[in-house]
Amino acid sequence: MLMPINPLFELTAKEAAKQRDTLNLIASENYPSPKVLELLGSVWMNKYAEGLPGKRYYAGNIYADEMETFVQTKALEVFDKTGEYGVNVQVLSGSPANAMVFLTMLEAGDTIMSLNLANGGHLSHMHATSNFLKFFKLVNYDVSETRPGTFDIDMDDYQTKLKEHRPKLVIIGFSAFPRAYEFAQMTKWAHDAGALVLADIAHINGLVAAGLHDTPFKAGAEGADFVSMTTHKTFRGPRGAMLFAKQDHMPAINKTIFPGTSGGPHLHQIAATGQALLEILDEDTYPDGRNFTDYSKAVLETSHALEQGAADGGLEIVSPTQNHLCLVKLPDAVDSLEFQRRLESVGIISNRNMIPFDKKSAWRPSGMRFGTAALTSRGLTPAQATELGQLIASLALDKLSEDDTLDQVRTMAKSLNWYY
Ligand SMILES: Cc1ncc(COP(=O)(O)O)c(C=O)c1O
Repeated sequence: MLMPINPLFELTAKEAAKQRDTLNLIASENYPSPKVLELLGSVWMNKYAEGLPGKRYYAGNIYADEMETFVQTKALEVFDKTGEYGVNVQVLSGSPANAMVFLTMLEAGDTIMSLNLANGGHLSHMHATSNFLKFFKLVNYDVSETRPGTFDIDMDDYQTKLKEHRPKLVIIGFSAFPRAYEFAQMTKWAHDAGALVLADIAHINGLVAAGLHDTPFKAGAEGADFVSMTTHKTFRGPRGAMLFAKQDHMPAINKTIFPGTSGGPHLHQIAATGQALLEILDEDTYPDGRNFTDYSKAVLETSHALEQGAADGGLEIVSPTQNHLCLVKLPDAVDSLEFQRRLESVGIISNRNMIPFDKKSAWRPSGMRFGTAALTSRGLTPAQATELGQLIASLALDKLSEDDTLDQVRTMAKSLNWYY
């Protein structure tokens, strides 16, 4: 008897082929090593391990204890050179990680200060329609034009708001933000104003791990009290997160995660995070054999090259990139939602994005965000990144047909590595 085709496996095969045959420029995505995927689909998934290593509520966690402790140790080895931090590797994703800090440290009515979502902040740092507004007040700091065509954090605005609103928690860390930034001074000002600091390095943690971006893990008053991060962007691990805190806050953070808000940890996710950490530490390798620092340097090169290509092709750059992503302004007559769809139809996967002080809506904003962490994992070279930036510009400015663009995208996608 013929078995019916299982739609789940059929769809998975289609998704894999689509990912292989297209060019992914989503700045928050990446292609982790097959070992990361293997651990995600491993027997760790079968096990409940409520609690922390050495203090679990169910039996059978002898290896889970060893594995989770190992991952904690590797996480601290990668990120904390001060010895002042601890880590919880059980948080499920980036947004819950931030929420754990709110729920641990704040009382109802307290104020959180974060970068304006529309100008590069993140949803999980609160915004006008956030559910957390039921409990906490929100104050936004902002960006300003530091040089023509270059938007950075407005430090005057930041200091003024600190003094004016006396927030209990300040969040430093951004989402659609192409600029590099330093943590120490902003953290110190926040501490001087009596605030706690949460650094959210969800996007840049791979660059931080590789020593290519400033780190919020510092000793004393210049160090963030909490550091949250996702593990699936420049970090190149499984979808997930880690939450670090200065040692004195760790017991309370651990208690909020379990039993305060969550049940059993996702051991498969923790093991897969450990694999990504081993690759960062050069104790295991990504299939192309390139070490993580060289990979991260290549990400910066391809990001610059893609931006250059887009500019050469006639698109306006919002603020020159200093990290893994660039923000491009489309001509006023080009609708970004339509353009995102056109790009998808020629095999370029990307997202439309608001740009600083955008006059258009979040649904149909003025800009596009392009990140190169994922394609660099597939071996994209700077020359190819420039070509890709030019292709995008040509399509936006109607200098190249969709058919011709599709041909070039297919050829480029075929030339790249695919490890699954
Ligand atoms: C700065 C920042 N924080 C948190 C998150 C949320 O991560 P998650 O999607 O895992 O909840 C993101 C995701 O893009 C982010 O950019």
